[in-house]
Amino acid sequence: MTNEQLMMEAKKARERAYAPYSHFQVGAALMTKSGKVYHGCNIENAAYSPGNCAERTAFFRAVYEGEREFEKIAVAGGPQGREADGLCAPCGVCRQVMMEFCDPQTFQIILADGKGGCLQRSLKELMPLGFGPESLGGG
Ligand code: THU
Repeated sequence: MTNEQLMMEAKKARERAYAPYSHFQVGAALMTKSGKVYHGCNIENAAYSPGNCAERTAFFRAVYEGEREFEKIAVAGGPQGREADGLCAPCGVCRQVMMEFCDPQTFQIILADGKGGCLQRSLKELMPLGFGPESLGGG
């Protein structure tokens, strides 16, 4: 699936966003190495901090289903009532969750570029000197 197609899936997932507090709706589409796509949306909470981002919703759904090998994720986010065509980069907590399950060199994050297209960055680019499972090895 192309980056543009995966972004369309993220936009579809965004329709499920539950964001009554921020009114900022986000969708994510996570593609496994085998080509399967898992969708996620942000899910907020009246107590605020228990809210979950779209990216983590997608990862946790996929991991629950037994997936461990991921290729890329597209993220579409923006204020409710508007097209999600601006840059919506994953928060630090979501980047850390990606570090757990993805190779930072190869895993790609696809974002809207604000000009009708997509831009792509590796997890390594978004998380330089990141801490991951390898870091616990003492090397
Ligand atoms: N949010 C995401 O779901 N993903 C991002 O990449 C950035 C932020 C959510 C969290 C919260 O529900 C809302 O967007 C506003 O921060």
